[in-house]
Amino acid sequence: DKNCFILGIESSCDDTAAAVINNGTVLSNVVATQKIHEEYGGVVPELASRAHQQNIVPVVHQALRIANIDKKQLKAIAFTRGPGLMGSLLVGTSFSKSFAFGLGIPLIDVNHMQAHILAHFIKIEGQTMPSFPFLALTISGGHTQIVKVTDYFNMEILGQTIDDAVGEAFDKSAKILGLPYPGGPLLDKYAQQGNKKAFKFTKPRVNPMDFSFSGLKTAVLYFIQREVKNDPDFIAKNMKDICASIQFTIVDYLMDKLKNAVKHTGIKEIAIGGGVSANSGIRQALKEAEKKYGWKTHIPDFAFCTDNAAMIAMVGELKYKSGDFASFDVVAKARMKF
Ligand code: KG4
Ligand code: ZN
Repeated sequence: DKNCFILGIESSCDDTAAAVINNGTVLSNVVATQKIHEEYGGVVPELASRAHQQNIVPVVHQALRIANIDKKQLKAIAFTRGPGLMGSLLVGTSFSKSFAFGLGIPLIDVNHMQAHILAHFIKIEGQTMPSFPFLALTISGGHTQIVKVTDYFNMEILGQTIDDAVGEAFDKSAKILGLPYPGGPLLDKYAQQGNKKAFKFTKPRVNPMDFSFSGLKTAVLYFIQREVKNDPDFIAKNMKDICASIQFTIVDYLMDKLKNAVKHTGIKEIAIGGGVSANSGIRQALKEAEKKYGWKTHIPDFAFCTDNAAMIAMVGELKYKSGDFASFDVVAKARMKF
């Protein structure tokens, strides 16, 4: 069907997003990022839901306008049902229900974590999609997960974080160094110019495919407090080396976990997603692993890595084609399994 236009809506955290997809090709991908949280150094749930309410109608309008279609051409509306912040999810869920009901078209519920993974099936010129089975590493400010993907909707979580997400480890370390929120990208920038072996941080020990990052944050904090006591200018003098060392620890830890998952499953096809996949260290480590261990790695365009609605629309399209619709009494779910 050439006219299979699906609208995707994402509102699980602090990005209000809408996108239109047509047979795997993204026609529009609009994201309103909420600036309000910066001054608090983290997402404030109540402020997030209020901002979603203000943003959602203009964002959807813009997505339709950029895609150059009328709302009457939409075949279905796909929305993030969970996991995420309840207040935020409610805005997207309620809006999507009313819009689909008003237009008389099907409603499709989407699991945000599945969407991060299925974003790899968005058509992008010159990029090959992962083939089944593959391992998906989803790394962002909210998630850290390794998933075995056997088919579009056949996924098994092999491991995940038992405390903080990896993006939080970057952001909290950056905060300790006095960098503005979210500090991950800045930490990465300094890291690229520093010596990664300058300082050593121990990697937290948990199950082979699980993650823990809260200990690293504490280790960084104590290390900095101790050094600053001896030399108040310690951070300024060593910023690049500190960042490089922290980044090296985190990237090496992620790679250890991936290696464990490869060993456990025998699968060497790896797809990463989430905002942290922008990190230069993890990108380089994956490239090296292709040569060293014969892995095949996939990293989607950055716009499809961070929270976005194109990935929601992509899942919507897959479910639409198999007639997998939601009932109109579907409710948002803050915690949600596959
Ligand atoms: O996927 P995302 O935009 O939002 C969610 O958290 O769902 O991910 C944002 C996270 C933040 O923690 C941010 O600091 C981190 O991704 N991030 C990075 C880099 N770019 C974004 N962390 C390390 N290096 C980067 N280059
Ligand atoms: Zn996400």
